[in-house]
Amino acid sequence: MKTVPHRLYLTEEQMPKQWYNLRADMKELPDPLINPATMQPATEADLYPVFCEKLAHQEMDNETRYIDIPEEIQEMYKMYRPSPLIRAYNLEKALDTPARIYYKFEGNNTSGSHKLNSAIAQAYYAKEQGMTGLTTETGAGQWGTALSEACSYFGLDLTVFMVKASYEQKPYRKAIMQTFDANVIPSPSDTTNAGRAILAEHPDTTGSLGCAISEAVEKAVTTPGYRYVLGSVLNQVLLHQSIIGLESKIAMELLDEYPDVVIGCAGGGSNLGGLIAPFMQDKLLGRANPQIIAVEPASCPSLTRGRYAYDFCDTGKVTPLARMYTLGCGFIPSPNHAGGLRYHGMSPILSKLYHDGYMSAISVEQTKVFEAATLFAKMETILPAPESSHAIYAAMEEARRCKETGEAKTILFGLTGTGYFDMTAYTAFHDHTMTDYIPTDADLEVGFAGLPKIPGIQE
Ligand SMILES: Cc1ncc(COP(=O)(O)O)c(C=O)c1O
Repeated sequence: MKTVPHRLYLTEEQMPKQWYNLRADMKELPDPLINPATMQPATEADLYPVFCEKLAHQEMDNETRYIDIPEEIQEMYKMYRPSPLIRAYNLEKALDTPARIYYKFEGNNTSGSHKLNSAIAQAYYAKEQGMTGLTTETGAGQWGTALSEACSYFGLDLTVFMVKASYEQKPYRKAIMQTFDANVIPSPSDTTNAGRAILAEHPDTTGSLGCAISEAVEKAVTTPGYRYVLGSVLNQVLLHQSIIGLESKIAMELLDEYPDVVIGCAGGGSNLGGLIAPFMQDKLLGRANPQIIAVEPASCPSLTRGRYAYDFCDTGKVTPLARMYTLGCGFIPSPNHAGGLRYHGMSPILSKLYHDGYMSAISVEQTKVFEAATLFAKMETILPAPESSHAIYAAMEEARRCKETGEAKTILFGLTGTGYFDMTAYTAFHDHTMTDYIPTDADLEVGFAGLPKIPGIQE
């Protein structure tokens, strides 16, 4: 076995020059998007009013296995990539485990997360198409920050609808977005019809990603020269995020390593979809059989307790319908501290892979997540984001199991970002005021009751 450094950085030359499109190797594809206006499968052209054309093409492209990363995007990637593959030697020692724990750390940029990988791509294609501005939603704030940075780089205006719970908990996130000239609005807001309708029904709501998406889409389609971009869930976003998995695989090959277990937190599924992409390819092609685990909050358990059904991607029901694991687009999760994981649905690609048995999922209460985050911070000198800490928790549990069984498994997890703007959450944990709310079956039934009816498909 080779000597493994604490941190392995690829050289710029070793960085992937193409993204990998997992759909090209799936035995069965996710079901097609449905246009809610016609209740028929959506065409690429149906998406043009909302998404840039190249991105709409990537969304629908189930065949092209590898897609060239444009030079301009590669250049901007080089400002903060390659990201390190880190061997968690100290954490291993603290857990007294025979397991080898690796994590891919994506927090080394101003957004503090993996979100910049897709933000750059989406802003680039918008600029290329001659757009003047973009709109988006943000939950934890990382995506909004990432897109602000990308829009400022490519000279585009940006309006960010930020989930109200996060807007209030993380005022400094807003300040960073403003540093990059973005216009940040707490959602639901009274600036859109969708926001006004949600506020009329739930005046005290702390918002959700689903509400914010409705507002951002409405603003984009009613503003000339604007398009909407989404930071997760979509096939195109998983495609851009495949850079995480591709770099990880190259780095592990250099170490003669291969993961037995790959773990990621799952909000809309973009980091997990990106991290697992080349490993899932091996699994689909019968070359290897790594175990793949999604980790979600117990308060928003879309994979573990959701239904596999067609649903809107947003609360205001303006987006196409996607078949995915969902809690119902009207489900508003309790205001837990992992804002980026408070989404009712899940990437259709991951949903299909999960449905077909290629990966498993677990859900965790936030107090357990913060216990894991705290130990990790002490051992690894990175204060993790609450979202990422879901993956840390699961990796630690796996390593503890290895201690019991004596197995020396290789564990790889995605450390998607840093938690320096999550101090309200850390304070609540330290003060013991943090609570765990797990929705009851009756709570979930309310969300399922609102699933749309589609003649001949979902009656
Ligand atoms: C740090 C971090 N990790 C994970 C996520 C979850 O998103 P996804 O499931 O798309 O990777 C978010 C979303 O905001 C995030 O900010």
